[in-house]
Amino acid sequence: MREVPPRNDFFVGRDRTLLELRDQLAALRPATVALHGMAGIGKTQLAREFAWRFAADYQLVWWIDAAGGLTAQAGVAAVNDALGEPVPAGPAGTAQAVVRALSRMAATGRPWLLIYDNVEDVQDVADLLPHGGHILITSRSRAFRQVGTPTPVEPLARAETVELLTRRIDGLDPALADLLATEIGDLPLAAAQIAAYLDTTPMDPAAYLGLFRAEQARIAALGHPVDYPRTAPPPRSGCPPTRSPAGHPRPPPCSRCVRSSRPPASRWTC
Ligand SMILES: Nc1ncnc2c1ncn2[C@@H]1O[C@H](COP(=O)(O)OP(=O)(O)OP(=O)(O)O)[C@@H](O)[C@H]1O
Ligand SMILES: [Mg+2]
Repeated sequence: MREVPPRNDFFVGRDRTLLELRDQLAALRPATVALHGMAGIGKTQLAREFAWRFAADYQLVWWIDAAGGLTAQAGVAAVNDALGEPVPAGPAGTAQAVVRALSRMAATGRPWLLIYDNVEDVQDVADLLPHGGHILITSRSRAFRQVGTPTPVEPLARAETVELLTRRIDGLDPALADLLATEIGDLPLAAAQIAAYLDTTPMDPAAYLGLFRAEQARIAALGHPVDYPRTAPPPRSGCPPTRSPAGHPRPPPCSRCVRSSRPPASRWTC
């Protein structure tokens, strides 16, 4: 395991998704899956848990933070270095060397998993995808069809959000956790923010729910999960205002969206 972030002890759920992902990678050629979805939906956490859960299936698991093309290039250079390959000057030479090195590994029956996390644009990694192993990409963009199989990441199931909240917040009543989960549309980042806040303040969770309903965006931002970047990069384009069908709560299109203070309350604006 190289550069893979530590396992998240508070990771919940996604069991079926993780198994489906493993089957997908085993069956697909090229075995490249691009996990996509809105900010905070849990793409990075899913990839991270996949790396840890199935590490035994691989001889090499490498994690590259690809937020920004240059970072991706630097990460690939590190892979290259560790594999004992010469590092040719320039990004294109580096990419070619790593493609050769990992392809050789696969050809000699040594399976590998390469993870590009937080890719902003398919072009950032399009030339950095060796064959013969498994590649996981996480991105807010779904435009990865030219290099692999786009796979959407959905909000957590309700029971999973309740588990996340009750595991993280001492003594939280599951019924109250359910109400909080409704408010946040089962978005894991929002659940982690709530947990981070309530974990560090004496505020009563029921009082928090009342405040949250009144001032959702401001209150959610009070909590900061330690495993999420403090300044998440903005999505490529702003979200269009959206509203849900009457009576059906829906999650915000992105983590920066705020719920309308005027009716209908189900309207989100980025
Ligand atoms: N399955 C999970 N179990 C527990 N916590 C989770 C889970 N998924 C996500 N989280 C929490 O939500 C936060 C955001 O998740 P993550 O970083 O995976 O989002 P993302 O979809 O990669 O967002 P971005 O598009 O900004 O990169 C995490 O820091 C973590 O606290
Ligand atoms: Mg991410």
